[in-house]
Amino acid sequence: MQKFSILLVLALIALACGGGENAPSEAPPTATNAAAKKDIDVKKIWKVRCIACHGLYGDMGTNGAANLQESEKPLEYRINIIKNGSENGVMTPFGDILSEDEIKAMAEYTMTFKKE
Ligand code: HEC
Repeated sequence: MQKFSILLVLALIALACGGGENAPSEAPPTATNAAAKKDIDVKKIWKVRCIACHGLYGDMGTNGAANLQESEKPLEYRINIIKNGSENGVMTPFGDILSEDEIKAMAEYTMTFKKE
């Protein structure tokens, strides 16, 4: 009987460890696709590169920055403006600063400011 309970305890430990290994690879439901795949910290990039004009919640509008809570622009447009800057030259291009994956992740991140 005692042998049996030791086996049971060992089995439980093995199960617990197995579950722990799998947990980190599961993306949190709020993470954007590109960011989750490449482990890109979109919030950090946002705070360093974008917050001065767009604000923490995307609606600050410094220098006429587009209100991202109201923007209807599609993903492709956003990728382009982040890469090449805005046509009026106010938003700086990030094509030389961020990688393709980071730009895509940031474009997806800007979609998340929109209120339902
Ligand atoms: C120097 C100020 C400035 C910074 C920094 C800045 N933006 Fe912008 N952003 C703007 C302005 C101004 C516009 C509107 C341009 C226009 O009207 O053509 C804009 C527009 C956009 C748009 C298009 C939204 C729309 O509806 O037109 C996106 C997406 C965007 N910015 C994302 C970002 C991201 C991501 C970053 C950081 C990597 C960033 N911006 C950094 C000023 C800035």
